[in-house]
Amino acid sequence: MTNTDTTRTALVTGGSAGLGLALTSALAADGWRVVTDARDADRLTRAHDDSGAVTIPGDVTDQEHRDALVAAVPEGLDLLVLNSSTLGPLPMRPLKDYEQTDIDGVLRSNAGGPLALLIVLADRLRPDTGIVVGISSDAAVEHYPGWGLYAASKAALDQLVLTFAAETGLTGYAFDPGDMRTQMHQDAFPGEDISDRPEAATVVPTLLRLITSGAPSGRYRSADAFAGVS
Ligand SMILES: NC(=O)c1ccc[n+]([C@@H]2O[C@H](COP(=O)([O-])OP(=O)(O)OC[C@H]3O[C@@H](n4cnc5c(N)ncnc54)[C@H](OP(=O)(O)O)[C@@H]3O)[C@@H](O)[C@H]2O)c1
Repeated sequence: MTNTDTTRTALVTGGSAGLGLALTSALAADGWRVVTDARDADRLTRAHDDSGAVTIPGDVTDQEHRDALVAAVPEGLDLLVLNSSTLGPLPMRPLKDYEQTDIDGVLRSNAGGPLALLIVLADRLRPDTGIVVGISSDAAVEHYPGWGLYAASKAALDQLVLTFAAETGLTGYAFDPGDMRTQMHQDAFPGEDISDRPEAATVVPTLLRLITSGAPSGRYRSADAFAGVS
C-alpha cells in the first residue's frame, strides 16, 4: 500500500491508556492517520470509539501482531512512537530479587519487541524525514533503587532508537516525558497519592513540538521544553 496523499501517518504503540492514548487522540484530532495497539482489545477499542485511529489489538512482543501492524501502515510512515512499556512484576524490587523470567519479560517488552518492530518497519518509514521516538524515562540515566531492570530496558531503548537513527539518517528521539498521573505511575507508587503529578495530556504539546521542530536526533526531556531548539 503506497501513501500517495499528503496526510501524515503515525504508528503509536500502547494507545489505549496514559501517554499513548493522549498522543494518539491528539494526532488523530490534528488530521494524522494513526495506527495504534495495546493488548487489552476491549479497552483499546473503547478508547478509540470516536478518535478515528485504527486499532490493532496485540502484544508488541508477538511477531504475528507486529506483522499485523506492518500491514496496517502505509509506505511513507512519517512517525513511529515506541511508547508501550511495562514496569515488570510489582511491587518493583531490588535487582537481586528478580527471576530470569522477569528479566526476559521486561527486556523483551520494553526493548526487544520495540526493536523487532523497528526492524520490520524500517523500509516503511519515509526516507529522509521519517521520525522514530522512543518514550524514555529519567530512570534510563539515573540509578534509583528498585528501578534497575525497568531502567536498563529504557536505557536500551534509547540506544536502539538513537543508533537506528545514526545508521539510517532518519531522525530519532529518546523522549523523557517526566512523571505523569497514569496507571503505570500509580503501580510504581502503590498507595501513594499521585494527584500532584501532571496528566499525560499535558506532555503531548511538548512532544508534538519536538516532532515538528527539526531538532537533531538525541535525548530530550519534556521538563526542558526544548529551550534553544527552534
Ligand atoms: N507515567 C510516568 O510517570 C512515566 C514516567 C516516565 C516515563 N514513562 C513512560 O511513558 C510511556 C507511557 O507510560 P504510561 O504511564 O502512559 O503507561 P500506561 O498508562 O501503563 O499505558 C501503557 C500503554 O501501553 C500498552 N501496553 C503495555 N504493554 C504492551 C505491549 N507489550 N504491547 C502493546 N501494548 C502494550 C497498555 O495497554 P495494555 O496493557 O492493554 O497492553 C497501555 O495502552 C512508557 O514508555 C513509560 O515507560 C512514564
